[in-house]
Amino acid sequence: MLNELKQRFSIPGLSFEQNHNGLVSVVIQSAACTGELFFQGAHVSSWRPFGHEPVLWLSQKSNYEKGKPIRGGVPICFPWFGPNASNTTLPAHGFARLQEWQLVGAQQKNSGAMELSLETTIDPFRLSFQVEFGNELKMTLKTMLPQNAMSSQSYEDALHTYFSVSDVRTISIRGLEPASFIDKVDDAQLKPATDSPIRIESETDRVYLDTQSDCVLEDTQWKRAIRVAKLGSASTVVWNPWIDKSKRMADFGDAEWPGMVCIETANIGDSRIRLSPGESHSTTAVISVDALSTNRNL
Ligand code: BG6
Repeated sequence: MLNELKQRFSIPGLSFEQNHNGLVSVVIQSAACTGELFFQGAHVSSWRPFGHEPVLWLSQKSNYEKGKPIRGGVPICFPWFGPNASNTTLPAHGFARLQEWQLVGAQQKNSGAMELSLETTIDPFRLSFQVEFGNELKMTLKTMLPQNAMSSQSYEDALHTYFSVSDVRTISIRGLEPASFIDKVDDAQLKPATDSPIRIESETDRVYLDTQSDCVLEDTQWKRAIRVAKLGSASTVVWNPWIDKSKRMADFGDAEWPGMVCIETANIGDSRIRLSPGESHSTTAVISVDALSTNRNL
């Protein structure tokens, strides 16, 4: 597989690696950024735009093994989010992050960004994932229901992005002030908008509803602001496992929780996507980084 990929995509700035467990990844090194994507799950595991520290968080305890999700980066959740509603033996967050995706295109854009296109099938859907590694990280998950499908179908999706932060207790997240949310750490209660930026002060697992807004993660210690802009997404999830839940996760270091927060571009619950045969939907997240002072207004 590795040789075939090297021959087919012999492009400056692009290389391929295989780890000791057989997982294959594509590595990007361009003037705009460095990055990496594993073909299992079409999983973006790193992105570092030129002039900045790494933006995505990865656990030191992550498995990089066939059939196991990578802890960090950007897992793709599809066709359901969280545990499966009717069969809890099925994998959490669906099949997409566990299965192999095929690289079908790679090209260097005029901006210096590297654009990769990947595809897979999760019956009855056909999925494509387009990711542009540049001074922004642009990811689009497109889901198509073929014309010959027997019936309409619905699904949930998420670009479950883990961000690296100086200390989650000192960051804030703006953009979700007007949105009500489901509080998964309080009996999944529906709670009203808080009208203030989010501060993480305990285990946090919230699905913000009916929100198309950009989010801005302000990290004053690291003097940077990360913007998550989105299209085709009506839900945003904010997650930090805090102390006890970190200890319960085998692939998450007990002391790692202060260094990360997830802001997930999603379509969940009542915002699940419904497709008729022949229809498609795209969920896009665009991530950019700025020095804090230049990014104070949404
Ligand atoms: C978040 C969910 O998106 O993902 C959390 O809201 C969940 O409830 C977390 O714990 C991690 O999920 P997983 O399956 O990768 O451990």
